Amino acid sequence: MAQNILVLPGDGIGQEVMTEVRRVVDWFGENRGLEVNISEDKVGGAAYEAYGAPITDAIMDKAFAADCVLFGAVGGPQYDMLDFSLRPERGLLRLRKDLELFANLRPAICFDALAEASSLKKELVAGLDIMIVRELTGGVYFGEPRGISDLPDGQRRGINTQVYDTEEIRRVARVAFDLAGKRGNRVHSSEKNNVMESGILWKEEVQWVHDNEFPDVQLDHILADNCGMQLVRAPKQFDVIVTDNLFGDMLSDVAAMLTGSLGMLPSASLGARDEATGKSHALYEPVHGSAPDIAGQNKANPLACILSFAMALRYSLDRGGDADLLEAAVDRVLGAGTRTGDIMSEGSTLVSCTSMGDAVLTELNKTISG
Ligand code: IPM
Ligand code: MG
Repeated sequence: MAQNILVLPGDGIGQEVMTEVRRVVDWFGENRGLEVNISEDKVGGAAYEAYGAPITDAIMDKAFAADCVLFGAVGGPQYDMLDFSLRPERGLLRLRKDLELFANLRPAICFDALAEASSLKKELVAGLDIMIVRELTGGVYFGEPRGISDLPDGQRRGINTQVYDTEEIRRVARVAFDLAGKRGNRVHSSEKNNVMESGILWKEEVQWVHDNEFPDVQLDHILADNCGMQLVRAPKQFDVIVTDNLFGDMLSDVAAMLTGSLGMLPSASLGARDEATGKSHALYEPVHGSAPDIAGQNKANPLACILSFAMALRYSLDRGGDADLLEAAVDRVLGAGTRTGDIMSEGSTLVSCTSMGDAVLTELNKTISG
């Protein structure tokens, strides 16, 4: 039975990179029997321009009905003056919140061919393979009260609230332990229990899930500031890191940079599995943003978005073998020295976004013609 994919390219380079992903999806349809119905719509600034809002109820309905959402990127300086509720980012945040995509998987993998491009010494990052599991629907991103208010003395006050309940912590911890069991069997849980009560609860609940459900996985607790420091000091000590929404936002950017390029990193945002159907809502997006400075110039690196589709093959479409095939093709493209500007190094070949897509398809074709 055909599966339904909703494609939301969004703004800036989101458009260009998603064009290459669509070609890859078609390739799997033509050559590997992947059956999908694709529908495409707008999100972020593009949706604001077309519909007056960064996402609409109609698009949300499509997202609910889809087996997964492929998401490009949102935002751009032309939208900075918009009211907060109309900003492009609100479209993404509504998708995460309403689809209850509480577990955000952000792998930070260093491709051998790119170890030189890391801001750290090659030996510190070669072979790096970390999975950051970021809580995505709670914490300070959504906590109430929030807002900006006027004070009697003429000052203003900005408020956001960090809040977590037991089950919010336990369910994301389970995802992290479960993943660790299929990898290096180690989890670091990161919070600030030295200054925040929500951090104390986080630590205790993660420990509870460990002791009661995953006693065989090694668990360490690490303060979030120290975790940032350790990530740039000795990143290979980590296997899986589980952390809250805000710390996860920051730590995943740090981890991403270690790998040589933000332009390489995919992510998956997953909801709870429905007992009856075995399915869960899911959204796949590159970690990089809309990169307005290079948008529309055919310079963007489509690999993060292509690798996000590989994660979709693995986690939503039940095609782990195809995911392996695609990831291996990307690996060979890099190994051959094909580079977009963001990962360019001496002696490599600089290519456009489209040509990078071509290169991936060429490698995929070799797998069937051999
Ligand atoms: C991310 C981004 C988003 C976030 C923005 C675009 C709302 O930085 O996915 O990491 O802060 O979560
Ligand atoms: Mg971020």
